[in-house]
Amino acid sequence: MQLISQLTLPHLAMEEPGFARNPFPHFDDARARHPWLATSNLGYVVTNYNAVRDLMALEARHMRMPYDLIVDAMGARGTAWGRFQEGHMLAKTGAEHKRLRDILAPAFTPRRANLHRPLMREVIESLLDEWAPKAEFDFEEFASWFPITVMCKMIGASPEVIPGIRANLETMGLSIAMDRTMLPQLDTAVQALDDFVNELIDTREKTYRAGDQADLLDLLMEAMIASGMSRREFGDLLIFLFGAGFDTSKNILTLAMWELIQHPDDYRRCADDPDFCARVIDESMRMHSVTNTNRLVTVEIAYRDVLIPEGTNLWFPWSVAARDGTAIENADTFAPSRSQSHPHVGFALGAHMCLGQFIARAQLSEGLHQIAQRITTPTSPGPAGWRPFPGVWGIRGLPITFEPA
Ligand code: HEM
Repeated sequence: MQLISQLTLPHLAMEEPGFARNPFPHFDDARARHPWLATSNLGYVVTNYNAVRDLMALEARHMRMPYDLIVDAMGARGTAWGRFQEGHMLAKTGAEHKRLRDILAPAFTPRRANLHRPLMREVIESLLDEWAPKAEFDFEEFASWFPITVMCKMIGASPEVIPGIRANLETMGLSIAMDRTMLPQLDTAVQALDDFVNELIDTREKTYRAGDQADLLDLLMEAMIASGMSRREFGDLLIFLFGAGFDTSKNILTLAMWELIQHPDDYRRCADDPDFCARVIDESMRMHSVTNTNRLVTVEIAYRDVLIPEGTNLWFPWSVAARDGTAIENADTFAPSRSQSHPHVGFALGAHMCLGQFIARAQLSEGLHQIAQRITTPTSPGPAGWRPFPGVWGIRGLPITFEPA
């Protein structure tokens, strides 16, 4: 058994802009030098698909969320952003987290997600009415309006608020990129989102409905009241839900489009075959999902002859784990019809596995099906840039040219 700090490990410069442009060869190279671990300036990185799964199976007893340390590293104690980062659902561990998860789970079942499909179709159709006649635009910008408009409709927020919320969520999307210079902007964004959700709760408190008439906000308000959740906790939860579904969904849709531009036959099939769209979304998430997060070890772990002591910061790159060629056949080939014998981990694993995954899957496949019908033969010179790899990764600007149908 060897202590993790005594290993000779490859180094991943995850925070560097060049890394975000194409992380896959760096991970392949790291795996060739050590089968499952690398170092980085942000902590140790678990590079191997099976090790990610094995270690996450130990999460409940051996790890916790490290958001307090992220706040410290950003020098953000006492700021609005710092308070929010420690108060939201993903920051909680153990019984405190389970309580929140149990309250929320009934509003996020696959059945509930499917009930939102007509609303998702209505939103993407009206966005396409506005954007498709342009014949060229930045697909990332177009995609960004989709999840935010769906979310606002699901909770009954007025359409006028959408541009402001979108701008603040764009800023919040860089929260875990660990850039201290962003702090003033992050603080302003949290404060603006806080004002927005407080107004929303004030208005709905007097008018919320139960039963079949209930929208997502009604269901959440009912759960908040029944569980005795505090107003502060509920506000943070709403802000978190907006953020959790925004740049993740937008970035996956943009990455899927980029992949499909390179696979025109698959793209054409998306226009005719809604079930195939669901497979394309899953395969896009396997090829390059968007979220990379970390955990703090609280109880020493012994794994594959390595001792990982308490206090170790472990990164789980959900976005690239399922590109591990040592575990997955033809890992670098985009093949939507492949059998998912090694399911991707783009929605994470363990206690915090994405609660909104059924909404995300429904939204993205509904969206893709309509997009492929209205935006035909798209071409692109490629991504204009890339978002930072730690946190929520993705394409920053994807210019496309196409024939409107
Ligand atoms: C393709 C889109 C999405 C992706 C890739 C994604 C990914 C993730 C990941 C990786 C996590 C866990 C992070 C970690 O363990 O450190 C997570 C958690 C979460 N996501 Fe998503 N997400 C997506 C869409 C959504 C949507 C649309 C919603 C809600 C409307 C949502 C709500 C949540 C919530 C509430 C959690 C926290 C769960 C908990 O702490 O128990 N997500 N998501």
